[in-house]
Order: sequence, then C-alpha cells, then structure tokens
Amino acid sequence: MIAVYPGSFDPTTMGHIDIINRASKIADKLIVAVLANPSKDPLFSVDERVSQLMEITQDMPMVEIRHFEGLLVNFANEAGSKVIIRGLRAMTDFEYEFQMALTNRELNSQLETLLIPTSAKYLFLSSSVVKQVAMFGGNYDKMVPPVVKRDLERKLGGIK
Ligand code: PNS
Repeated sequence: MIAVYPGSFDPTTMGHIDIINRASKIADKLIVAVLANPSKDPLFSVDERVSQLMEITQDMPMVEIRHFEGLLVNFANEAGSKVIIRGLRAMTDFEYEFQMALTNRELNSQLETLLIPTSAKYLFLSSSVVKQVAMFGGNYDKMVPPVVKRDLERKLGGIK
C-alpha cells in the first residue's frame, strides 16, 4: 500500500516523526508530501523543509519526500495512492481533520484518510509552538530533531 502523509512541515517536529514512524509500519511506501503554498508565508522554504525531511528519514528506504502544489487529491492520484495519513493530537484537531477527510473523499471517492493518534508525549506539540519557543529563546531540544534545531538556530540567529 502506498500512503501519502501531507502537511506544511514548517518545520518538522518530533510529533511528525512519530507519525512517520507509525505510518511506515503499515504502508509499504510512505510519501511525505510537503505543501508548497506561498500564501501561508512559511518560515522555511519548501526546499529547506524537503531537505530537512530527507535528512531525518535517510535511513528509512520506504519513505520518499516530495512536495506538492494545488489539491492533495490530485497529488495522491498522480502518486498512485488511495490512502492519506494524518496525525491526530487532541480533540481540537478532530473537526479540522474530519472536514479535510470528507472534502478529500468528496473530491475523490476512492481516497480514504487514516487518522493516526500521536504518542501522548507529543499531544501539545505543533510547528507553531516550536517556532514561538525558538523565537523567544526557550528550550525546544525535545520538540524537534537535531537537523531542525540546527536550521532554526541558523535562521533565527540571522533574524536577531
Ligand atoms: O500541516 P498542515 O498545515 O495541517 O497540513 C495541511 C495540508 C497541507 C494537509 C492541507 O492544507 C492540504 O491538503 N492542502 C492542499 C490543498 C487541498 O487539497 N485542500 C483541500 C483539502 S481541505
């Protein structure tokens, strides 16, 4: 089974890595699809986000990192996948994820979304939390992999 795990990954957190690990146990091939959406004004460029994920998953041969623009259903279709993976943290995620899953199914009835509950220790974690903690000088060592910490230090070091 080929599965697509889409997201902004701006940047990748330990929560995302938890979902990649879980999904790679049930999929034969996992395509991590990074949204290249200029309207979202990301901290990291799509190339930076893709290369972070490539470094993070370099020892996982079943994981492929790609980027996409436009509709996710079109990307999944071109990638030959009928399964979308999304991580679920607290109930607050649920409404958004449910809406997205039903929209995607409306756009392509062949497509199913699998919501994977995150590990309890990452319930609070999000890319925005990481960026805020990093910007205000807090300790975020346990929230991101070393690759992302390095890039955040470089990027924010330049801003300060
Ligand atoms: O990490 P995020 O920002 O929660 O990921 C959201 C993402 C990229 C999965 C979602 O915004 C998306 O699929 N965007 C592509 C446009 C699209 O297909 N929209 C219709 C589904 S709501």
